[in-house]
Amino acid sequence: MSKKVIVISSSPRKGQNSDTLCDEFVRGALDAGHDAVKYFLEDIEFSSCKACYACKTPEMKCVQDDGIAPILEDMLEADVVVYATPVYYYEMCGTLKMFFDRCYPVFRHLENQDYYIIMAAGSSCGDALIGIKSFIGFSVNPNIREVFEVFGNVKSQKDVLKEVYEAGKNC
Ligand SMILES: Cc1cc2nc3c(=O)[nH]c(=O)nc-3n(C[C@H](O)[C@H](O)[C@H](O)COP(=O)(O)O)c2cc1C
Repeated sequence: MSKKVIVISSSPRKGQNSDTLCDEFVRGALDAGHDAVKYFLEDIEFSSCKACYACKTPEMKCVQDDGIAPILEDMLEADVVVYATPVYYYEMCGTLKMFFDRCYPVFRHLENQDYYIIMAAGSSCGDALIGIKSFIGFSVNPNIREVFEVFGNVKSQKDVLKEVYEAGKNC
């Protein structure tokens, strides 16, 4: 069965470690016949959540008219979601956190999704997984399928590239 796969790439560095793995996941998913798309957040203009609570209505609509709305629509329909981040100070990067905050209109309506997490660090991911898992934990029946922690330059790590490609293919 073809699945809807969305990949959230939050590094500012296109084509570097975590983003390369996002591309591998997408490549695997497409090869398996899934509908897969990557959102590279650095290319998308959006601001922080203003905590106005206007989205807490049946329409679940954010008052901010920026690049986030189409992603949230896709999130609601996705079967598989991948969150990828570089590790900054043992945490997810600020861009991914800002994105999570903007998910406030929909986070309680994300149901029965499979999740994959990609974290790229120099040498240690510290507590980065905790925050990402906390966000995922708000969805209904979340299933974290795999967590990839990678260190250093992934382009020379053929096994990791293959593992993530295969995860996309078998998602
Ligand atoms: C602001 C900042 C903070 C960082 N903090 C950590 C850290 O806590 N632990 C670590 O191992 N690497 C840390 N790094 C290194 C990055 O995690 C590493 O270069 C990673 O591969 C970047 O991923 P990317 O290529 O997907 O952007 C930090 C880098 C920056 C710019």
